Amino acid sequence: MNVPNHIAIILDGNGRWAKAKGMPRSYGHVKGCANLERICDDMKELGVKYLTVFAFSTENWKRSKEEVDGLMKLFRGYLEKCLKIADKNHMRVKVLGDASAFDQDIQDRIKILEEYSGKYNELHMQIALNYGSRDEIVRGVRKLAEDVEKGTLKPEEISEHTFENYLDTAGIPDPDLLIRTSGELRLSNFLLWQLAYTEFYFTDVAWPDFDRDELIKAIEQYNKRDRRYGGVKEE
Ligand code: FPP
Repeated sequence: MNVPNHIAIILDGNGRWAKAKGMPRSYGHVKGCANLERICDDMKELGVKYLTVFAFSTENWKRSKEEVDGLMKLFRGYLEKCLKIADKNHMRVKVLGDASAFDQDIQDRIKILEEYSGKYNELHMQIALNYGSRDEIVRGVRKLAEDVEKGTLKPEEISEHTFENYLDTAGIPDPDLLIRTSGELRLSNFLLWQLAYTEFYFTDVAWPDFDRDELIKAIEQYNKRDRRYGGVKEE
């Protein structure tokens, strides 16, 4: 089995999964969080080098206060626990998105986790929090414009490659496979630039039920694809 170097996942369906069990949405998020911890072990064992997950979008603030507060509580606990997960999987963690919107203690936990896990490089996990791809691109363009204004970057030096260095994903290879759980067939403002040549896999399985067998199914599907990067496939 040819294992993708970089898998991106839109973690969807926690709420519906819980509702179907007669439980509150928050229960689905707790189970979704546990599944995220577990899937890092699968990624490491299978030899996936990069995992990027969409955990909280710039639009998710519009959910009820109760749900947002519950998610913040979950993030706090997870960011702390993740220090141990990083040790176990020799995993470097990076948060994508605009962290400045979070309470200071969450920002501190993100900084501690990124700095602590910076010593590892076997598995790279990117967690998108308060992330929206258009917002990421606009923030990148703003930084780029500042550099042009300062004179450290010339307009003629701007290429796809230089622009990528202004994105939150600077230095991280583009995803080979995108998985979205729970039946929705859209990108929801996730990695619009980075997914240009990525293979997509959609499944009806809700995120809390997306286990190792489901992951292997997705990778098997990916193996059947005839990957192209815009040109003609080499025989
Ligand atoms: C989508 O399910 C999920 C979210 C908006 C939150 C994702 C969060 C987790 C998996 C929990 C933990 C993550 C971290 C990083 C600690 P949904 O609520 O949109 O489900 P629905 O579409 O059924 O309503």
